Amino acid sequence: MICAINMLLPFKHLTSTKQLTRDDTDAILKVSKEMEEVLKKGGDDRLAGKILACLFYEPSTRTRLSFESAMHRLGGDVLSAVGFQFSSLYKGETIEDTITVMNEYADIITMRHPEGGSADKAASVSEVPFINAGDGPRQHPTQALLDLYTIQKEKGSVDGTHITMVGDLLYGRTVHSLSFLLGLYDNMRFTFVSPKELKMSEKVTSFLTEKGINYTEVEDIEDGLDADVLYMTRVQKERFADQSEYERLKLKYVLTADMLKGKDCTIMHPLPRVGEIDTSVDALPNAAYFREAGNGVIVRMALLCMLLDAV
Ligand code: NCD
Repeated sequence: MICAINMLLPFKHLTSTKQLTRDDTDAILKVSKEMEEVLKKGGDDRLAGKILACLFYEPSTRTRLSFESAMHRLGGDVLSAVGFQFSSLYKGETIEDTITVMNEYADIITMRHPEGGSADKAASVSEVPFINAGDGPRQHPTQALLDLYTIQKEKGSVDGTHITMVGDLLYGRTVHSLSFLLGLYDNMRFTFVSPKELKMSEKVTSFLTEKGINYTEVEDIEDGLDADVLYMTRVQKERFADQSEYERLKLKYVLTADMLKGKDCTIMHPLPRVGEIDTSVDALPNAAYFREAGNGVIVRMALLCMLLDAV
C-alpha cells in the first residue's frame, strides 16, 4: 500500500469531468505519479482477484487496451466485449440491462458507446464502479485526465497554461472533457481554432464565460501557435450525417514541422491522427502525443485503484 489517507474519490462512478473538483484532480494526479513508479517496477498485484469489464460499442485501440494493460499491471483480470453487432444491445437489450448483468460478472465496468448520455444511463443502475470511456460526442473523462497528467508532466504545472485546441471542436468529446477540467485551474487561456461549422460546443463556451475564463475563437491555425500547448484533433467522421461535408472539412488543418519553427508549444493529440499532424512533427522534442498515449496506462491504473479502494 502506498498511502491510505484521503486518496479515495468522493464518488463511485466517473461519467464526466464536470463532476470533478480541484481536490479530486490533485488526488488523481498524485496517485498517477505513484502509479508511474509502480509501472516502472513492472506493476504489482493490488487488484488481484478483481475483474474489469470493458464494453466497447465504438472503435477503440488506446482506451480499451490501456484500460486492459492497467488492470493487468495491477494483477487484475479483464473481460472484454467489443463491437455492437456481437452484443445483446444489437438484439435490442437496454444499456441498463446490460450493465445490471455485468454487475454479476465484474467488480468495475468501463464502457464506450456512440450515444451521448449512455454513460449516465449505465451509472444510474450500476452497483459497482462505472467509468465512461467515451459517450458519443459528449464526454471522455479518462482521456481528459491523462491529458491533464501529460500537461503537468511536460510543462511542470497546469495553472497559467495557454492551450490552443484545433480541429473538430463541435463533435470531439476529448476537447469538451478537457476544457471542463482545465476550467478548474487558475489563469488559464484558451484559443479555439476550427472552421465555423465545427466551432467549440456552446456548452463549453458558456461554461468558460460563466467562470470568467478568457477564450478566443479563430479560423486560422497560425493565430493559435503561440500557446503553451497545441492540442490537435481529428475531424470526427462518424458524427457526420453528410459524408461530403466531412470530406470537405477533414483536412482543413495539417500541422507540419515548418509551421512550428521558432515555436515552443507542446504538441498533443488524443490519437488516432488521420493526417492532421504531418509525420515531420514526430521528431520534434515537443511532440508529446505518443508519450501522452503512454500516460493513459498510468492514469487508468490510478483510477482503477482509487475506485476500487486499493490505493
Ligand atoms: C479519441 C476518442 O475516442 O474520442 N480517441 C481516444 O480515445 N484516444 C479521439 C478520437 O477518436 O478522435
